[in-house]
Amino acid sequence: MGRMSGKVALITGGAEGIGAAVARQIVSEGGRVMLCDVQIDKAQKLAQELGANAEAFALDVRDLDQWYRAVAATVARFGKLTVLCNIAGISEPGNVVDGPLDTWQRTIDINLNGPYYGCRAALPAMEAAGEPAAIVNIGSMIALRAAAFVAAYSASKAGLVGLTRSIALDCASRGVPIRANMVHPGAIRTPMYVRYQNAGPMSPDEVETAFAATHPMNRIGEPEEVARAVVFLASDDASFTTGCDFTVDGGGSIRD
Ligand SMILES: NC(=O)c1ccc[n+]([C@@H]2O[C@H](COP(=O)([O-])OP(=O)(O)OC[C@H]3O[C@@H](n4cnc5c(N)ncnc54)[C@H](O)[C@@H]3O)[C@@H](O)[C@H]2O)c1
Repeated sequence: MGRMSGKVALITGGAEGIGAAVARQIVSEGGRVMLCDVQIDKAQKLAQELGANAEAFALDVRDLDQWYRAVAATVARFGKLTVLCNIAGISEPGNVVDGPLDTWQRTIDINLNGPYYGCRAALPAMEAAGEPAAIVNIGSMIALRAAAFVAAYSASKAGLVGLTRSIALDCASRGVPIRANMVHPGAIRTPMYVRYQNAGPMSPDEVETAFAATHPMNRIGEPEEVARAVVFLASDDASFTTGCDFTVDGGGSIRD
């Protein structure tokens, strides 16, 4: 019996990157997953690869009605919902004065309102399951130390910390067996990272060297390294852990 045996997870951003790595890890440890993403073709392809313990659902996390349908579809397909992984996110550069105005709105909509809608839609179903359940929200090293030129991203991820802690306290104080935690990655080799590597005037190798230098372990991370932390927090192994900030950043958030 795997550590995730009996768990049913709804994963946003499940089509690729960190979300896909989390889905693979959960299924490999005996759990079942609903892969929710705007990239439905990629989500369906991964679901097919993972087999009967996975299904895909088209979800734009900005739409609360779609969230209710995604939760209902998960319960209809797998009988319950016990894990919510809010992983979908975007990162667009821009400082406060000169950055595109719509970057602020889009980033808050996807990175902060999305997880809020998700928790709003999923918590009643998780509570109804009547068994230990967990929310894992993906923040960023930037949530803990901020960064220039990514004002909206910094704000969205820091806001998510407050949301997660509030849910953790709410559930604990009501005696509801639902934990809520954050995982904060450093730079991780995903399609998001590769897009960033190819966006500017520097070569991909130069970008990699520059990013590595911002992590005391002097490298960037792999999606599987984040997935292992997410699955730990989603599993009953983390039964006394709620409201925590779990970093997977090679020491990036504590550097000088
Ligand atoms: N890669 C990194 O270096 C890094 C570092 C710190 C934090 N993070 C965070 O980790 C999470 C995953 O990042 P990633 O690197 O895997 O990104 P990615 O771009 O590789 O994958 C993100 C996934 O989210 C989906 N998505 C985007 N907008 C969506 C929406 N509105 N509704 C539903 N799905 C949507 C995309 O289609 C994609 O499948 C994000 O929240 C990101 O902010 C990533």
